[in-house]
Amino acid sequence: MASHHIFFFGLLALSFSLVLATDNNPLFDICVADPKGPVTASGPLCKDLKLVHENDFFFTGLHKPGNTSNPLGSKVTLLNAQQIPGLNSLGISFARIDFQPGGINPLHLHPRGSEILTVIEGTLEVGFVTSSPDYRLFTKVLQKGDVFVFPAGLVHYQKNPEHVPAVAYASLNSQNPGSILLANTAFGSTPKINTDILVKTFHLDKKLNKAATEEVTASGAVCKDLKLVHENDFFYTELHKPGNISSPLGSKVTLLNAQHIPGLNSLGISFARIDFRPGGINPLHLHPRGSEILTVIEGTLEVGFVTSSPEYRLFTKVLQKGDVFVFPIGLVHYQKNPKKVPAVAYASLNSQNPGSVQLANTVFGSTPEINTDILGEVFQLDKKVISHGQMKF
Ligand SMILES: *[C@@H]1O[C@H](CO)[C@@H](O)[C@H](O)[C@H]1NC(C)=O
Ligand SMILES: *[C@@H]1O[C@H](CO)[C@@H](O)[C@H](O)[C@H]1NC(C)=O
Repeated sequence: MASHHIFFFGLLALSFSLVLATDNNPLFDICVADPKGPVTASGPLCKDLKLVHENDFFFTGLHKPGNTSNPLGSKVTLLNAQQIPGLNSLGISFARIDFQPGGINPLHLHPRGSEILTVIEGTLEVGFVTSSPDYRLFTKVLQKGDVFVFPAGLVHYQKNPEHVPAVAYASLNSQNPGSILLANTAFGSTPKINTDILVKTFHLDKKLNKAATEEVTASGAVCKDLKLVHENDFFYTELHKPGNISSPLGSKVTLLNAQHIPGLNSLGISFARIDFRPGGINPLHLHPRGSEILTVIEGTLEVGFVTSSPEYRLFTKVLQKGDVFVFPIGLVHYQKNPKKVPAVAYASLNSQNPGSVQLANTVFGSTPEINTDILGEVFQLDKKVISHGQMKF
């Protein structure tokens, strides 16, 4: 199956900025990006206030249709702090999306922003898939004036099902939401992800795949009466015991969130133990609401994550006992035990409910299933192959 996948990377390269942003609340009225200055984690540095002018807050020509002459038949025109320097530090961006008849904005996600979209012209069929364990597909046909929301970090798409063009405007609550096209991430990263990992990611059936990942539920439980709180609300025992790695993936995530340790509620942190048998793999997945920091306790792990558009750069590393690695929020990643002895890792995530989105389950195992037309355009596979993929679930 991997061979089907090899030839369709480079689907398109949307011109999203690579500037990292944490989108904290602004500390100043304005902080116009200094085009010549350095870029920090919270964005470019502020330009001298005396040099700021109206045009730093201004863009013109958004009424003009984007060029949709490409195989997908869609064009995203994104306005972030690169195009409008005055957006810097404000935690918001804006986009126009044009679709030719049948055009599609294929399966993708924004690791750092939720999106709210309205149809200006024509009709759009849209959908997003929730995270594990439900992988529920919410889909809707939107007419002019309709508005739809795509939550941060969840895989979504838009398609123009009609014979006339369609136009939408969308806003995202990050000055640099980032974009991850699933096909480019899985099959078009630089360097390429090991075929072994791809095959295992996309070949397993839903039940088995689910067995490999213990899942979080929605959090934000109401606080218990303080008089009834006891030590055990902050306590969990026997995390030293290996998880059951007899699934086909050969890995087991034992996640501790506020379901397992009620005292974690509202604290924005969770913890996991991950066991791997020899050759075991924790396949391509992402956490929509948390960054992860992992350390190897026993054995060796080969790990990697892929950055967002346009680079899709694969950062990969072989970790030994005592090594620590970070997987940034919303980015697709994996771990694999390349050795003939078991491996164990501990990981922490900065959310009490980071969520988990397994690529294979999202693409081929949602309920209801994603339309084969949309999958076909995402992965450029023929429908027969896709039905085969879906049957595995
Ligand atoms: C649109 O893009 C295509 C393909 O890149 C190009 O050949 C064509 O000239 C462009 N059209 C316009 C109006 O820019
Ligand atoms: C591990 O899981 C397998 C498959 O679910 C099951 O058959 C086996 O009994 C489990 N082993 C232990 C030790 O729980």
